[in-house]
Amino acid sequence: MQILVTGGLGYIGSLTCIELIEAGFEPIIIDNLSNSKLQVLNRIEALTDVRPVFYQGDICDSAFMQSVFSAQKIESVIHFAGLKSVAESVSHPLEYYANNVNGTLVLLHAMRKANVKSLLFSSSATVYGDPKVVPITEKTPTGATTNPYGRSKYIIECMLSDLFQAQSDWSITILRYFNPVGAHPSGTMGEDPQGIPNNLMPYIAQVAVGRRDVLSVFGDDYATEDGTGVRDYIHVMDLVEGHLAALKTVSKKSGLHIYNLGTGQGSSVLQMIAAFSQASKKKINYKICPRRPGDIAQCWANTDKAARELNWKATRTLLDMATDTWHWQEKNPQGYV
Ligand code: NAD
Ligand code: UFG
Repeated sequence: MQILVTGGLGYIGSLTCIELIEAGFEPIIIDNLSNSKLQVLNRIEALTDVRPVFYQGDICDSAFMQSVFSAQKIESVIHFAGLKSVAESVSHPLEYYANNVNGTLVLLHAMRKANVKSLLFSSSATVYGDPKVVPITEKTPTGATTNPYGRSKYIIECMLSDLFQAQSDWSITILRYFNPVGAHPSGTMGEDPQGIPNNLMPYIAQVAVGRRDVLSVFGDDYATEDGTGVRDYIHVMDLVEGHLAALKTVSKKSGLHIYNLGTGQGSSVLQMIAAFSQASKKKINYKICPRRPGDIAQCWANTDKAARELNWKATRTLLDMATDTWHWQEKNPQGYV
């Protein structure tokens, strides 16, 4: 069964392709390489003995998208392609709306034309904004987003909901990721941020491997147990398994399905540093700095709905996340080269 994977050479998409192949699916990858490298295709092949069909192109290109659907027998789409830097979205909002919102529109048009009506979409906990109450359930209000990236995800969710209201034979699954971290256990595939990492885990990893001197801890005066920000970090392989679970269950049924994908547990910045020190046996230099504008104090998921309906639960620990990130970083200090 062919599954179109947009953004399939990126961090989460590429690892999803591994699991798809191992589960007997045939991923068809589209990526414009704006935030990934062709080398990833070799790594997928090395791990699975399968070189997936790959189209280098842009999801915003309508003729290109239609040509892919015409050439293949796609039954379902997992839509990862998008720009994801909060900071960049603030300085380049139009690029974010064009790529994320318009790209999704073009994809949906091409799907409709090809009569493909099953979609899994990568959304984000960012749609919940700064939640008044944690843990966050799927019923927690959305929309009070704090940056253009978050708004692009929220707008796409609204578009998908409107589409489903109009065409109830579609199966649309919105997966709201919390904080994906970690790497493939082989240490050959993982996150490869370009330039200075924005996110905590890749930054810690680059300090541990000696690429950066010191981690800035953004604030130690939040109303949390140790004063630093708390997030629901989820091992990327657990997250990937969540996609497979959704693909095998709800993506076969028409409906608008929405799930939080997290672990249900919050961890602080200092706890992450401690886990990484333990995994890497390295001291992580850090300094306490002012809060980062736009950051929330804490956020973690209630994951009961996914457990109940997808029969899926994250199982990997914080130490697993740190250990696998470290293996990837140690073996590939400059990422995919
Ligand atoms: P990533 O940047 O590693 O992967 C995205 C891939 O999409 C890249 O390979 C990029 O080249 C490609 N791409 C971007 N725009 C494209 C376009 N117009 N046409 C074709 N390809 C395009 O990001 P990721 O971490 O794997 O995230 C995947 C999805 O999950 C994104 O939509 C992201 O917003 C969402 N998400 C990620 C996180 C996270 O922390 N990583 C959290 C929540 C949601
Ligand atoms: N942090 C630091 N130092 C750093 C980087 C981060 O102290 O160098 C702290 C942050 O202040 C925060 C925590 O580490 O308390 C996590 O920060 P990340 O940047 O790793 O993650 P965020 O929760 O801010 O954002 C991530 C994604 C967003 C997504 C959001 C919710 O980057 O795209 O999760 O899914 F919207």
